[in-house]
Amino acid sequence: MTTHSEIIRRLRDELGDSLVIMGHHYQSDSVIQHVDLKGDSLELARKVESVHAEHIVFCGVYFMGESAALLAREGQNVYLPEPDANCVMSQMAPAARVDKVLTSLAASGRTIVPLTYVNSSVGVKAVCGKHGGSVCTSANAETMMRWAMDRGDAVLFIPDKNLARNTANRLGIAQSDWHMLDIRKDGTAVDLETANKGKLLLWPGLCAIHARFNLRQIQTARDTHPGITVVVHPECSPEVVAQADAAGSTSFIINYVRQAPEGAAIAIGTEINLVERLAKEYAGRKTIVPLLESSCSHMASVTEDKLSITLQEVRNGTADPVRIPIGFTEHARAALERMLKACA
Ligand code: 13P
Ligand code: SF4
Repeated sequence: MTTHSEIIRRLRDELGDSLVIMGHHYQSDSVIQHVDLKGDSLELARKVESVHAEHIVFCGVYFMGESAALLAREGQNVYLPEPDANCVMSQMAPAARVDKVLTSLAASGRTIVPLTYVNSSVGVKAVCGKHGGSVCTSANAETMMRWAMDRGDAVLFIPDKNLARNTANRLGIAQSDWHMLDIRKDGTAVDLETANKGKLLLWPGLCAIHARFNLRQIQTARDTHPGITVVVHPECSPEVVAQADAAGSTSFIINYVRQAPEGAAIAIGTEINLVERLAKEYAGRKTIVPLLESSCSHMASVTEDKLSITLQEVRNGTADPVRIPIGFTEHARAALERMLKACA
């Protein structure tokens, strides 16, 4: 029987240079083995700009495919093997609500610069672009928060309160200058008076997969493996990040493990596919353990069989590319390009 892997290899040969497969580090091994370009969100956004292939098949969650489609050239199409793979955090900030909050905050006369984590819809990126703001990833959040702070009286960070607070801690922004918005369903911030005082306004979103890591797991890892170091993703809570030895993007975590000396033991707080891949890669040389087996089910919903079906559809000309809703492209692209320029 022909396996999915064999079908994928045959279709790749047929499609030749017209195809590039991109993928995020959280993809399973069965998918990642077929990927031409992998990376964290920032690296993937940068790589799209250098891809000339007509078809980009993106193995990741929806916002990643959307960002790739925004940055793609004329005539290039981006396809997602599983278009229903959604980053749950990206859905915690509906664009209309963000727009409404920004409009009501503007009534104070203060200049509020919106900064959205790339884990957000194209609608939110467009709203941020329209209000003079930009985008950041976990790899450049400090640079971009400084960028935003330099341009106004306060920054509205959307949607990840943990990345926002961890970044503010690194930049030395006092906690008394943070303010968590209380967002009503109708989009009004109920506490505008206080909100208009803080320097960093926080949207109350988070990643449930990273919110599972806690101080007890760090203590258990240290008790079980004396001398172990702990590295976590900055979507973890500030308490966890403060207790860890290091925090950074998925590529930062990969480099942290690579640079650790032979024989090192490292506990990792991020999505399990990446941790297990590193544990396999360094087996017998470094001890890599997860703080907890925390899986992103949406990332996992992209599978080898769905990739093979997408490639067949691309070859047959029947695949549905990611479409950016009308009216969003200009402002959303402006927001993304401000980030790429600030971090060139
Ligand atoms: P990175 O940009 O660090 O790869 O993170 C993306 C993400 O979704 C983490 O949960
Ligand atoms: Fe989104 Fe969290 Fe999954 Fe990353 S791990 S894609 S932030 S839900």
